[in-house]
Amino acid sequence: MTQAYEIVEHVYDVVVLGGGGAGLRATMGIVSAGLRTACISKVFPTRSHTVAAQGGIAAALNNMGDGDNWRYHFYDTIKGSDWLGDQDAIEYMCREAPEAVRELEHFGVPFSRTDKGQIYQRPFGGQTLRYGEAMARRTCAAADRTGHAILHTLYQQCLKHNAEFFVEYIALDLLMDSDGSCKGLLAWCMEDGTLHRFRAHQTVLATGGYGRVYFSCTAAHICTGDGNAMALRAGLPLQDMEFTQFHPTGIYGAGCLITEGARGEGGYFTNANGERFMERYAPTAKDLAGRDVVCRAITVEILEGRGCGPNKDYIELQLSHLPRDLLEERLPGIMETARIFAGVDLTREPIPVLPTVHYNMGGIPTNLHGEVVTLRDGNPDATVRGLMAIGEAACVSVHGANRLGSNSLIDLIVFGRAAAHRAAATITPGESHAVLDRQSEERAIDRFDRIRWTDGPRKCGELRLDMQRAMQRYCAVFRDGPLLTEGAAYVGSLYNNLRSELGLTDRSLVWNTDLGEAIELDNMVRQASVSLQSALARTESRGAHAREDYPQRDDANWLKHTLAWMDEDGRIAIDYRPVHMNTPSNDVNPIPPKARVY
Ligand code: FUM
Repeated sequence: MTQAYEIVEHVYDVVVLGGGGAGLRATMGIVSAGLRTACISKVFPTRSHTVAAQGGIAAALNNMGDGDNWRYHFYDTIKGSDWLGDQDAIEYMCREAPEAVRELEHFGVPFSRTDKGQIYQRPFGGQTLRYGEAMARRTCAAADRTGHAILHTLYQQCLKHNAEFFVEYIALDLLMDSDGSCKGLLAWCMEDGTLHRFRAHQTVLATGGYGRVYFSCTAAHICTGDGNAMALRAGLPLQDMEFTQFHPTGIYGAGCLITEGARGEGGYFTNANGERFMERYAPTAKDLAGRDVVCRAITVEILEGRGCGPNKDYIELQLSHLPRDLLEERLPGIMETARIFAGVDLTREPIPVLPTVHYNMGGIPTNLHGEVVTLRDGNPDATVRGLMAIGEAACVSVHGANRLGSNSLIDLIVFGRAAAHRAAATITPGESHAVLDRQSEERAIDRFDRIRWTDGPRKCGELRLDMQRAMQRYCAVFRDGPLLTEGAAYVGSLYNNLRSELGLTDRSLVWNTDLGEAIELDNMVRQASVSLQSALARTESRGAHAREDYPQRDDANWLKHTLAWMDEDGRIAIDYRPVHMNTPSNDVNPIPPKARVY
């Protein structure tokens, strides 16, 4: 059964989809440039997942007097990415970072302070001085609630600039023209059940990651990668989807994040023998090595029988040796989290932890202006007119195969700002819109209807759990060919059977959360499938992609980005594009690949 929907039309210069750190930074910049902008979000903006970011935002401010310099940040980020990061974008991010953070300070972000009144900075994993000689204090922090502080400040700035918000709207699909350009998007308003067409010269996807495809993750329930799935349905590829970051310190059982800032302030790991095992795996950086390195070390400790507890299946994070006043001042949030979710008073006891899915390095490929790129007629950097992506939804790619802690917040801010600059430079306020090609809107409504009236035997929650358990099992810290093959077949058939298996009982349109979750599930299964196939294709180990059957990095064959397309029948096509090994300026030289040791 289908229904004809009346569609409410809105006309803007720019629409930004997503009200997290990247979306709000872009919205604020675009509105203040005089462009008429709508920010559309499925949750109230200050409930976006950026609010959960704890430890801080990386920028070489040198406030701690350690001689820090953006060139060291540039080197660390390339090394952290295991050389899969695009060096032009990394140069841009690291060079712009200090200015972008000072702007945040001026906007009103309540950063923690040094004795001199400057922004406080702490050590974080893989962030070093003098190309790895010593740990840097580069991560700017607002205690352990940095994302919260930034998000609320940016929202206030958006209000100050009179940005227009459409809150609790679920985006359905991009409106694509027959010439391949993007003309806006279609969304469903949860509050009154109406459908809305947003027309725009530029559509900015700031929809975050898709961590919820896994069973145990630090990501909020809203992290379902809706923008990524919309890009796939628009016939665009996703890049490097095999690279999923596990965070070393999810609370055992609950999965909640304990910030890396805990180790930055002096915390360390121990195994069942009380041994500080990271010294064996990363003799210089130890507990502050890259996250992929630490997660593999923890997994090996557990697999070799040195895990803690009755089932020897977790590792302990020690903080009780640190002074109580330091813990209360610098880490108040995790004191509370550890008490509530692990029943631990961290001034006395260790926290039981396990690697937990935390971040997606892959996403929608873009250039350093935030413009979406695709492989077209042999050109690997062909832009898609009218479409941008920023933040975790995007793969710009500054994180390559593994992101450094605190480089996510700076990515959101630097590229949210860059997208605003680009929009301001390329759009004239109030420019007229051409006649809209209705085909993609019709397809979006057909999909919406198909999901709304689906009549299969299984509930959305059951099918979602099947997908999450499969990803946890088949696409974990260590992978191999047979496991990935099995996982790809399993998730592929989950996708193909979704239409006949899924059943909704509520067909209403006002606040129908069952329908909302079914739309998200359809989005997630596509990304799970693409991730598994991309992982299966990459027969090497690099960064967070650790293949037991191909344990070495293989630059001769694999120094390239994966691109994956998926059609409606679940067929996945894979191709590749080169990594940008060039730097735009002469201020830094490109860093050629070498062994990655900490
Ligand atoms: O550990 C943390 O505070 C997480 C930071 C990040 O992922 O950048």
